[in-house]
Amino acid sequence: MKIVLNHKSNLVYEQVIDYANQLENMKTTQELIVCPSSCYLSLFPKMNLGVQDVSCYDQGAYTGEITAKSVASLGAKYALIHHSEREKYFHEDIMIAKKKLQLALEAGLIPIICVGDHKSAHEKGTYLKEIKNQLEQLITEDMTNYIIAYEPLFAIGTGDIPYIGEIEQVISMIKNSYSSFVLYGGSVNQINVNQLKEIRGLDGFLLGGISLDLSSLQDLLAQL
Ligand code: PGA
Repeated sequence: MKIVLNHKSNLVYEQVIDYANQLENMKTTQELIVCPSSCYLSLFPKMNLGVQDVSCYDQGAYTGEITAKSVASLGAKYALIHHSEREKYFHEDIMIAKKKLQLALEAGLIPIICVGDHKSAHEKGTYLKEIKNQLEQLITEDMTNYIIAYEPLFAIGTGDIPYIGEIEQVISMIKNSYSSFVLYGGSVNQINVNQLKEIRGLDGFLLGGISLDLSSLQDLLAQL
């Protein structure tokens, strides 16, 4: 399975050195993709690398921005696009995400396109529609090499995940419409992974909190 480790804005240099060392020696048959803060990319020379975000601008006079081209030149292969925390804290809308997606593709990065629904959509039964709508806006027919991550908004960092049957419905709807790998993310841990891994068609997980705790991560990986 593909296991994406999203560190978010955690860890300082000494911690990353230690983490990278342990991660590189971790025994697993799963395909790990580590997404540290972009300033630490070079501290993971032996890993598959992704970034958590790219600029919506190409190279130029955009002080403080980190471009898709620059992270690709540092060895990143993947980029998270449309992660819900970008919308929640930085007010990024789907148009900005589309620009980022385009630039990531142009730089040769494989986008990991995150889509997520609200708790209310699960209460009303409209979650499939909500996810479909986001995918239709983000994915165009000419795109070939990308990954989709289903991350319910209310599940991120909360421990509150949808019913397995509902996740399964979303994964199967995505699989029927798009030829891409599909991941689930949102409060995945070493306890619920046992049930989650049984979801038909699922190709892996996008891990946030647990990716920082290497002994729990090892426990989780051992169950796959
Ligand atoms: P979480 O985060 O595992 O801490 O819920 C997942 C994510 O935000 O990608």
